[in-house]
Amino acid sequence: MPPFITFEGGEGCGKSYQARALHRRLTKQSIPAVLTHEPGGTTLGENITRWLKWRGDVPISAVGELLLFSASRNQLMEEFIIPKLNEGNVVICDRFYDSTLAYQGYGRGLDLDLIKTLNTLSTGGLKPSFTVLLDIPASDGLARKNKKRIDRFEKEAVVFHEQVRQGYLQLARNEPRRFLIIDALLPKNAVADIIQERVRRLINL
Ligand code: TMP
Repeated sequence: MPPFITFEGGEGCGKSYQARALHRRLTKQSIPAVLTHEPGGTTLGENITRWLKWRGDVPISAVGELLLFSASRNQLMEEFIIPKLNEGNVVICDRFYDSTLAYQGYGRGLDLDLIKTLNTLSTGGLKPSFTVLLDIPASDGLARKNKKRIDRFEKEAVVFHEQVRQGYLQLARNEPRRFLIIDALLPKNAVADIIQERVRRLINL
């Protein structure tokens, strides 16, 4: 099966930019590759995302939030990720289940083993082949965000986002072969080159 590559990191780390850049580079090299994102990527997922990110006026419990992210993920797996891998595409996903461990686990304090069980359920056990973690101090990342349009997660205190960051670093320490940690304060092009080089080795170009 072709590689399944995920991008992770806190707010303002630049992962969406880097996921798009990798997709562009692979496509330029005539490597079949598709790009998607979480939460969302399907009709159901985009509707769930609207509630999770933009309806700050509607209370959502921590467990409810976890279940909504999981529902969105399972739909994306069935509708997009599995079929695209089976067709021979490299699949690049902007956020995946490590976001749930970092945000709902380390951030909200929900039980990590429970989240892992739900992650297995929502993904059918598929794991990313390779995960880029763009690491940035929470305050630097938040300062990069557009202040005019702040979502429910960006409204959380800096300490929440710092817990998320430490959570990501712990996840990367637990699986050093899967994760590549990159300093997100490096220039964009330098970050893109590091990722491209690692992916080149992964797919034996
Ligand atoms: P973003 O990818 O545009 O930053 O927005 C997604 C937000 O949702 C971000 O704040 C992280 C959060 N999130 C979770 O809390 N858990 C998850 O499982 C996922 C995929 C995202």
